[in-house]
Amino acid sequence: MNKPDFSPKQRWALALLKNGGLKRINILQGSVRSGKTYISIIMWGFWVAHSPKDKAYLMAGKTLTTLKRNVLEPMSQLFGSCFSYSITKKEAQLFGRRVYLEGAANVGAEGKIRGMTLQGAYCDELSLFGEDLFAMLLSRLSEDGARLFATTNPDTPGHWLKRNYLDRELPELLSMKFTLDDNPYLPEEYVKSLKSEFSGVFYDRFILGMWVAAEGRVYDGFSDRCIISAEHLAERLSENRLITSVVGVDYGGNRSASVFCHVGYDAGFRNVYVLSEHYDKRNRSAESLISAFAGYIAHEKEMRPTLSAAYCDSAEQLLVKSFRSAVRLEVKNALKRPINTRINMLNRLIASGRFFVSAECPHLIEAIRSAVWDERDIHHDTRLDNGSTNIDSLDAFEYALERYEKQLFRF
Ligand SMILES: Nc1ncnc2c1ncn2[C@@H]1O[C@H](COP(=O)(O)OP(=O)(O)OP(=O)(O)O)[C@@H](O)[C@H]1O
Ligand SMILES: [Mg+2]
Repeated sequence: MNKPDFSPKQRWALALLKNGGLKRINILQGSVRSGKTYISIIMWGFWVAHSPKDKAYLMAGKTLTTLKRNVLEPMSQLFGSCFSYSITKKEAQLFGRRVYLEGAANVGAEGKIRGMTLQGAYCDELSLFGEDLFAMLLSRLSEDGARLFATTNPDTPGHWLKRNYLDRELPELLSMKFTLDDNPYLPEEYVKSLKSEFSGVFYDRFILGMWVAAEGRVYDGFSDRCIISAEHLAERLSENRLITSVVGVDYGGNRSASVFCHVGYDAGFRNVYVLSEHYDKRNRSAESLISAFAGYIAHEKEMRPTLSAAYCDSAEQLLVKSFRSAVRLEVKNALKRPINTRINMLNRLIASGRFFVSAECPHLIEAIRSAVWDERDIHHDTRLDNGSTNIDSLDAFEYALERYEKQLFRF
């Protein structure tokens, strides 16, 4: 293991570990990229190395995939041969101790953990766990001197972790807050561009590390600057050609509309352009929808040869099949990622001036302008979806956006 260097905030956290200042529950919270995971791994490794060999330890993330990416891979780098893991076996070895690995969202995780008696646990992105699972995990930490280490970003103030744990000043809970400016290891340029990617409530949460509620408009940075005339769009695209473009498809039942939305990306996935939309509230028949889809795709393909795929609402597999045979284009099911992931993506694009929607897409423009948070739900960030706003256009657009998170954002 190389000898690491630490920020002042990290040294303060390490001092607590060394002088016995830790508690049963130790939560490192705060802004993105603030150095929480890095120092929590060091603390966890050091603590496990000095804990009994014959006891059980657990590490959990929202899924095993995120646990691997956020924590296990950095641990391999930091601890070298003192740490090894196998995702298929769901087990790791850390300084000679056996560590079980779990994904909190995995089916069966709860049953598995229920049967354990634990000496120590590490939770990555704790706010993404269910409250019941966390409560059960705590009840399994029954050994003498048992400890839990967790990292999390802030969420809404009504979130269970904030209301039922952090706000309660429990004698057995230690909370350590980190902000972006506590991390001196990031290049200045990177910090500047990261700060420019967030606005409003998301800036307060992800940059300042505050637990604040999402209120009012969902896309409060959206303005006329994002709307672009057909001529201006053509001009921009002649300078910066699209490298790919895809269509998102959402179709409605009784009260909703059928929407196709064509979205393009330029080199390096720098900018996102909404090129055109089809919006139909009539919902006459499946046949008319299929023929409208075939017509739209043919037209768009002719206009933009970059068109490479369509991603459809997966609720109606029969329709997806019919779409598939009606066009010569790859037609796939949409990923349907969590709505707040999609919202975050669009807000980051808007805040950094990378999102452009053609003035010829009035339905999507109106949908983005009028989307609001549901203020009755104080426990979660919930986009209002009660039929009063146009969610169909947002869904179709998001199906064409959601799969490019990795390409669009550096972290
Ligand atoms: N002491 C350190 N020495 C070297 N690099 C560090 C140190 N602390 C943090 N870093 C680096 O800073 C970056 C952000 O740190 P880290 O991943 O711990 O942040 P985080 O608070 O967990 O962020 P997120 O909320 O986004 O998960 C990482 O690339 C990490 O390697
Ligand atoms: Mg982290």
